[in-house]
Amino acid sequence: MNFKGQHILSTKQFDKDGLIELFQTAKKMEKVVDDARKGKQSKILEGKILATLFFEPSTRTRFSFETAMNRLGGRVISNFDMMNSSSIKKRETLWDTGKVVSQMTDIIAMRHPEVGSVEKLAKGSDAPVINAGDGPNQHPTQGLLDVYTIWKKFGKLSGLTIGMVGDLKYGRVPHSQCDLLKHFGIKFIFVAPKALKMPEEIVGELKKSKHEVLEVEDFGSVIGQMDVIAMTRIQEERFANKDEYKKYAGVYVLDKKLMGKAKKDSIVIHPMPRVDEISSDVDLDSRAKYFEQVKNGVVIRMALLAKVLGKI
Ligand code: NCD
Repeated sequence: MNFKGQHILSTKQFDKDGLIELFQTAKKMEKVVDDARKGKQSKILEGKILATLFFEPSTRTRFSFETAMNRLGGRVISNFDMMNSSSIKKRETLWDTGKVVSQMTDIIAMRHPEVGSVEKLAKGSDAPVINAGDGPNQHPTQGLLDVYTIWKKFGKLSGLTIGMVGDLKYGRVPHSQCDLLKHFGIKFIFVAPKALKMPEEIVGELKKSKHEVLEVEDFGSVIGQMDVIAMTRIQEERFANKDEYKKYAGVYVLDKKLMGKAKKDSIVIHPMPRVDEISSDVDLDSRAKYFEQVKNGVVIRMALLAKVLGKI
């Protein structure tokens, strides 16, 4: 897989070899972070500038991209309120914004509430653009760091049973995870209310590539089969009708009692933020990996930035 100079818009772009190559590079980046913390700063991306353009709230993803760039010796310019404080407010198009920002920078990371918005900006951009979330569609770097977390723990992906729990309709993270995991023999267990099921085309694709897919509403009856318990938040901001959201808020809560039914060597992942779907009594369980994921996110983004910029 060729990374250099590419826009990273979707996890559909990744093949099996490209994914493993990225994971191996991310693993090496752990040492780069350790060295930087000890005062030995990397210069891999010295002279390069990343622009982070965020049209939607973010804590982890934006900081993670910016940390990754800084750890590699690059620099960052950022606007976290693009919707209200950039020329988009004056009706500038995404195409024009992409063209303009890319005249000043070497790479762009962008998040926006609309499906396909990042692609629109990428069409105008002369620099590679990385999708940091486009509405309910895709969140490639989160999918990558989640699968990296699983790969690191189990040393493999094939043969695992992966449960995805929560809002599988609007959650862009489970969509990106499925695209990546479909290169490996996985048993998928999707746990969601009927109205928030995994989109048919994704389920169809997984079945076409001979994966076993189980779709249920009752979490407790299947948690014991899962090697990976991938929790997600009900995506409140995607519901036009807030009463509809309230019907599903709190529908799945992973707590200490339910963890009692989970496999001893399973792991719990979550892209965060959590609302009420993982109770804090799970945090001290050694199977909870959602804070470790944050560290994995930095090294995955370091690997991706360095590869897309052709420096590794
Ligand atoms: C996710 C997102 O924005 O899609 N968060 C993240 O990037 N870590 C998940 C979510 O908001 O539920």
